[in-house]
Amino acid sequence: MSTPFYITTPIYYVNGDPHVGHAYTTIMADIIARHHRQRGDDVFFLTGTDEHGSKIAEAAEKAGREPQDHADALSERFRALAGTVNASQDFFIRTTDGPHKAEVQRIVDQLHAADHIYKAAYGGWYCTPCEAFYTEDELGPDHACKIHGTPAVWTEEENWFFRLSAFRDQLLDWYESHPTWVRPGHRYNEARKMIEMGLEDLSISRSRITWGIPLSWDHEQVLYVWVDALFNYWTALQYAHPGEDLTERYWPPTVQLLAKDILKFHAVIWPALCLAAELEMPKQLFIHGYVLKGGEKMSKTSGNVVDPFPFIEAYGIDALRYYLAREIRFGEDGTFTQEGFEQRYQSELANELGNLLNRTVSMIRRYRGGVVPQERPHRDEAVRNELLQPLGGVRRAIDEYDLTDMIEAVWKAVRFLNQLVEVRAPWKLAKDPSQGEALDEVLHTLAEGVRIIAILLWPVMPGSCEAILAQLGQPTEAVSLDLAEWGRGTAGATVGTPVPLFPRVEVAEPE
Ligand code: ME8
Ligand code: MG
Repeated sequence: MSTPFYITTPIYYVNGDPHVGHAYTTIMADIIARHHRQRGDDVFFLTGTDEHGSKIAEAAEKAGREPQDHADALSERFRALAGTVNASQDFFIRTTDGPHKAEVQRIVDQLHAADHIYKAAYGGWYCTPCEAFYTEDELGPDHACKIHGTPAVWTEEENWFFRLSAFRDQLLDWYESHPTWVRPGHRYNEARKMIEMGLEDLSISRSRITWGIPLSWDHEQVLYVWVDALFNYWTALQYAHPGEDLTERYWPPTVQLLAKDILKFHAVIWPALCLAAELEMPKQLFIHGYVLKGGEKMSKTSGNVVDPFPFIEAYGIDALRYYLAREIRFGEDGTFTQEGFEQRYQSELANELGNLLNRTVSMIRRYRGGVVPQERPHRDEAVRNELLQPLGGVRRAIDEYDLTDMIEAVWKAVRFLNQLVEVRAPWKLAKDPSQGEALDEVLHTLAEGVRIIAILLWPVMPGSCEAILAQLGQPTEAVSLDLAEWGRGTAGATVGTPVPLFPRVEVAEPE
């Protein structure tokens, strides 16, 4: 039986158009999901949209339409983004889906019946962009939200509360016995500190808004959007495949990705809800940093964003996938710049990888009639070993969620092969009839090396790597990791026409 691997992204609010920040989480999840499929794991990859609550109701009102119409339109934009970035999700959940709402209602009824929920009056500072209450200490001057910079509003109402404080000790035990539950380590420490400092019970219903899942026992109130949203990770498995309950097969999640803005919800509230609902705990959370633009977090609320769609149209999606994974170390903040993007596109994708493929295919056509020569046993073992060494680092890097390192490991091999071409100078070998075997050897090494590079990079740039395989005369679906072994591919294959993978792009000046 293959190992289940269940990976999730946050579900994005439909309060505005998607930007590069959302593309980022979805792409990183997709890289990890694709790599695990290459290993033969039984992968389930979930993403989707979060559609209830006052933030969405307000956005709909501003747009002059009903919340459901607004959610339908914006959710479609996020679904389109997933398609455009070539995400291979197994399901796209919407919290307005009927089966999601029904299952959340069932769970919340169960929490109510088990006395995890009670009614009380409450007053606090509410930040609508966060959909969260804050204490005075948690806010900046003028009660400004530290994430959004907009003022929180004093809000009083009678609500239903979840007994979050009652889970403090259980959560601390869980953290104690699962030291890598939240990664990277500094986020684990941060989350653990929030729990140690004490937890207040959580208001989980709203009386002043109607755009949400109604409470079955109190029709005056709808469920707090975060409780509705967090359970998506569970409900999706129940109806993603109609008529089949996938919870047995995939629950609990292997890894859940999110940025640090929603750490508390996922690392404190979510595990408490799992304990209360008697759901097995997720195995790991990975918290990545922010994609910054001009030093600030890209955000729908602030409007400081890069629209990914025109970018992808100009350069192709693989360039964006590559740039984000390579430029921003997973777990840290990083800045998106057009100049940085163009620099990597030209120097790394076009001049290093693109050129390596191009010279490999061209030389095989020129010197060997387009047929990859057989390997010459024992001629070039040292070269082969040096080439294969960095490639061994790919699995380890992915297991550590170090996607930047994964790419760097492959890039060592790209550079090594480009150097090999310079050193061995096949154009000289081709002029000397006594060097036939040496020429065979170097051409075989190039073809086989590039083939393995294409398999290992496939999760990052699926379309381009399939194009590489096709140019090498390989089946484009031959991307499983067992095929990334020396000698499993190219010898005897007929290469195709060399077509530049990353052509020069003329772009309009950014505004
Ligand atoms: O918080 N850099 O939705 P949201 C990196 N609906 N990642 C970014 C980013 C940036 N500049 N901007 C957004 C919500 N993201 C809730 C989640 S989950 C049960 C409910 C990504 O639309 C990142 O993954 O505000 C971040 O955590 C998420 O989008 C927030 O999306
Ligand atoms: Mg947000």
